[in-house]
Amino acid sequence: MLLKGKFIVLSLVAASIFGCVSTTDSSKKEDKNSTSQFGGKWGTKVAEAIKALELTGNVKDGAIIYEEVCAACHQPGGNGDPAGNFPQLAGQHSSVIIKQMADIRVGNRDNPTMYPFAGVKALLAATDDIFDTPKTGPQTLADVAAYIQTLKMSPKTAKGDGKDLKHGAKIYKDNCVKCHGKKGEGIAKDYYPLIAGQNYNYLLRQFQWIKAGKRRNANPDMVDQIKGFTDRDIVAVMDWVSRQTK
Ligand code: HEC
Ligand code: HEC
Repeated sequence: MLLKGKFIVLSLVAASIFGCVSTTDSSKKEDKNSTSQFGGKWGTKVAEAIKALELTGNVKDGAIIYEEVCAACHQPGGNGDPAGNFPQLAGQHSSVIIKQMADIRVGNRDNPTMYPFAGVKALLAATDDIFDTPKTGPQTLADVAAYIQTLKMSPKTAKGDGKDLKHGAKIYKDNCVKCHGKKGEGIAKDYYPLIAGQNYNYLLRQFQWIKAGKRRNANPDMVDQIKGFTDRDIVAVMDWVSRQTK
């Protein structure tokens, strides 16, 4: 049974690499029916994600879904890859996982590689014959997020060159603590991500995208806060963050 799910995932990976899968249009239409919102004005509105946030995730089932759908890219332990193409997910707050999945799904955050996997329908399709009692879509999302939260972060993710850490620590302390916590641990209830120990290259890319407005789901207060940052500031603070442990 597990093989069938794997086959679907591998076909989708191949299809997305060759650019022939596009699920964003239909996802956008579904979003219009959403009624509530999370995360304030920078948040997104996806009904099934809001439902998922209210459910208790089943970690054991989440492990199966993760293995079937996510491990091909994010790696079996959830630690991503050193080049930073695939972020480390291990240890991330489940609320953040659910919010980011929803944002990716409705096109609020660009991620063509992941579109076919982000939606709960994709999660259901890949796992429909695995569980004795079929699950609802939001439940699959809650399960996989609950599992990811339990995974251990790797101490071996890529770091910067370590040459400007004092400056990085100061930048962090003066600008980031209020949202990302003292050491980058994030705040689960506000959807502020854990960034400590994330792959340096991934951090750098996301930070630059947020600064440039390319990541549309970003918190506008963060965008404001980092407007005047120089390249030196950015490299130093991301290097410092990549070295923190939770
Ligand atoms: C085909 C490869 C692929 C698969 C399969 C995949 N992802 Fe991703 N995922 C990515 C890429 C690439 C990114 C980073 C995109 C970027 O740079 O913005 C990403 C980003 C994410 C993020 C945002 C992380 C952050 O730090 O903000 C989350 C959450 C996520 N994926 C969860 C999942 C889950 C859960 C699954 C399985 C249900 C999954 N992904 C399956 C490729 C994939
Ligand atoms: C006002 C609150 C706030 C402040 C201040 C802030 N951030 Fe953020 N940051 C966020 C939120 C919220 C997100 C997630 C946005 C989203 O939903 O996509 C985020 C996302 C990020 C990401 C991307 C994480 C990922 O996994 O994709 C990085 C990197 C980051 N912040 C670094 C920083 C650094 C470094 C600072 C200080 C220079 C900072 N932030 C200041 C709220 C903030």
